[in-house]
Amino acid sequence: MKYSNLIKMGLATVKAKATGSSTPLNVMISATNRCPARCSYCNIPNRKQHEMTTEEMTALFDELKSLGTQRIALWGGEPLVRDDIGYLVDYAKNKCNFFVSLDTNGYLLKSRIDEIKNVDVLVLSFDGPREIMDKNREPGSFDKVMEALQLATQKMRVFTITVLTKENIGHIDYILEQAKKFGFSTSFQLLHHTKTLASEEESSLLPENSEYRKAIRHLIERKRQGYPIVSTIAYLEYILKWPDYSQPTSTIDSGLKCWADQLYCNVDTDGKVYPCSGLVERVPAKSFLEVGFKEAFAFSSKGECKACIASCFNEYNFMHALNLQVIWNWLQHTRKGARTITDTGYVYAPGAKQSISGHLASRLLCDDVFHPSENIL
Ligand SMILES: C[S@@+](CC[C@H](N)C(=O)[O-])C[C@H]1O[C@@H](n2cnc3c(N)ncnc32)[C@H](O)[C@@H]1O
Ligand code: SF4
Ligand code: SF4
Repeated sequence: MKYSNLIKMGLATVKAKATGSSTPLNVMISATNRCPARCSYCNIPNRKQHEMTTEEMTALFDELKSLGTQRIALWGGEPLVRDDIGYLVDYAKNKCNFFVSLDTNGYLLKSRIDEIKNVDVLVLSFDGPREIMDKNREPGSFDKVMEALQLATQKMRVFTITVLTKENIGHIDYILEQAKKFGFSTSFQLLHHTKTLASEEESSLLPENSEYRKAIRHLIERKRQGYPIVSTIAYLEYILKWPDYSQPTSTIDSGLKCWADQLYCNVDTDGKVYPCSGLVERVPAKSFLEVGFKEAFAFSSKGECKACIASCFNEYNFMHALNLQVIWNWLQHTRKGARTITDTGYVYAPGAKQSISGHLASRLLCDDVFHPSENIL
């Protein structure tokens, strides 16, 4: 992420804290519900509703730009099924100067990669070894994502999302080894989608609380060892304390303020503005197509919801809490030049260099890796 984007986000956060003002700094946009896949835990392809046209999407981008948005995340459904996806990415980058990430299952990547080459981060779903991933998602999904990973890591910065379930919870190290081999960064999600977005099978895939805790501790250990995990220690420690993973949201204050509906939000395919994707169809929402984004965002409200286990929202919440370790972690993983670099300064991508000062700063700011007695240079 550019320093200018980050500074604007920091200033808007400080203003929000001081005055209670709202700015849609970070906007997730569901580009479509359509998808060629049928993953076992996902219901999104069964949702039928209006899908914003190209003109409606660019009108949304224009209004977001005028309101101070710095980052958009295109997701779905499968964004690459949209014929106009390349045009939308270029519009968001070149006309609006947003930091743009795009989530994909990779199925259509080979034929569309040149159209979306300008995204800042391509986020591919990767759930483990062949037989495991094919159960977690759908048969054939492993081969498709491996082909996409090989291709994309040559051309752009790549993150993966792994949804941890009963099937793949014991295969974290396999994913980390692939990340080192191909040069991508990994992130990990717990099952957390609500009934609207999750399949009925989702609950049968949920690990025991003790299994999730064991996996989270393992991730913390691997992150401290320098594996390329973008999920922050702050987030991992936060979810380690979550009382019951079968209840992904809570009305009890966790001590970490949720900034949904004030500094970030989610726009559904039909233009409705929700505080986050976790509250889609769970709270009243207005559509930007009917009232404009400003009014729809002002109307959006998280109601009694105060805490959840979703990784992206909590990483935003830590950034808006001005947690320096989290901000540094994300700067390192999204800065230009280094395709894959962990916050311990461990470089995987050949040719990606980090300055000594950058290395020193990583060591100083990174959670629990700085040991004063150690000769870090
Ligand atoms: C809904 S998909 C959309 C983008 C694209 N179709 C894909 O699969 O990468 C975005 C992410 O949500 C994850 N996801 C799907 N169902 C989920 C659930 N029930 N709980 C948590 N994450 C889920 C997917 O694995 C994927 O990484
Ligand atoms: S997780 Fe993504 S690829 Fe799988 S069915 Fe849902 S939208 Fe499609
Ligand atoms: S805590 Fe915030 S981000 Fe999480 S589900 Fe509730 S409103 Fe959404």
